[in-house]
Amino acid sequence: MSVRILGIETSCDDTGVAIYDTEAGLLGHALYSQIATHQEYGGVVPELAARDHIRKVIPLVDAVLAKTQCDRTHIDGIAYTCGPGLAGALLAGSAVAKGLAFAWDVPAVGVHHMEGHMLAPMLENPAPEFPFVALLVSGGHTLLAEVKGIGQYRILGQTLDDAVGEAFDKTAKILGLGYPGGPAISKVAELGDPTRFKFPRPMIDRPGMTFSFSGLKTAALNTVNKHELDQQTIADIACAFQDAAVETLVIKCKRALQETHINRLVVAGGVGANRHLRKELQTMCDKQRAALFFPRIEFCTDNGAMIALAGAFRMHQASDDLSFQVKPRWPID
Ligand code: KG4
Ligand code: ZN
Repeated sequence: MSVRILGIETSCDDTGVAIYDTEAGLLGHALYSQIATHQEYGGVVPELAARDHIRKVIPLVDAVLAKTQCDRTHIDGIAYTCGPGLAGALLAGSAVAKGLAFAWDVPAVGVHHMEGHMLAPMLENPAPEFPFVALLVSGGHTLLAEVKGIGQYRILGQTLDDAVGEAFDKTAKILGLGYPGGPAISKVAELGDPTRFKFPRPMIDRPGMTFSFSGLKTAALNTVNKHELDQQTIADIACAFQDAAVETLVIKCKRALQETHINRLVVAGGVGANRHLRKELQTMCDKQRAALFFPRIEFCTDNGAMIALAGAFRMHQASDDLSFQVKPRWPID
């Protein structure tokens, strides 16, 4: 018998809602991005994020129910992101999820945001089978993990400092490209000359799969300080930054495939939307005879579909208990 899960994502600056059916797959989803709210501040303002989620969650639930022609009696459970993320933002989604679960008399389960990202490629066809190596690259995380099954995650390497998405965002700010930085950098990098500046590939000479991205942002800053910042120079620095970040990720992914003897690589998280990264990883995987799995671009960044899907796997842990706890910091392993 199929089970239908309503998923709610509110960990940062996107409000996402979706309905996932364990037999039919994703039935529908909706997203509200708060980019316009935070743009003038150059980054996410936690208090504003929480307030925006409160305003948007219920209308999005209504919209997804209407779009999928479901009513509340078709929903068997509710999944919500309970961490990691911004505390106020997480509380907004969690409170609505628990309230709906009470009103609809269904169980609710809190899911891990990064587990949602990691399982997002399973929304696609073909879906990756276990085991796989996962590269999680977002605004808050950069990690490689060996994934043997749901909840069986062995961290192979993480970042010592900035997450790669954070490095994209900070470098974009230095270049005056605004927020969010990842898409802005990748756009202007297309016009850049890849031979003009060469940035370091951090940590690649050391064994293992540990990352460090704060030095790249500093390399960008030092270059900015030494040059007149015209349009071409901005594009050239963006290009040098993106090439260095992408090559570093690709080298570590190759190492992870070789060391685990696994021939499936799954890439997820906001930076997974980067086209240069997708292309370079594909080339590496082809050479390694490994299969590469991505979510579609819209499911790389935060969304409700991945939370509904992760919730379907975690429904056995759901409870009717109305108390809830959010976990702004929550390791995945
Ligand atoms: O997964 P996500 O939506 O939110 C977090 O859980 O953090 O990731 C957001 C991050 C931001 O740092 C954003 O700049 C980055 O993903 N990002 C990109 C691209 N699209 C989003 N980075 C590089 N290239 C992109 N096309
Ligand atoms: Zn995310």
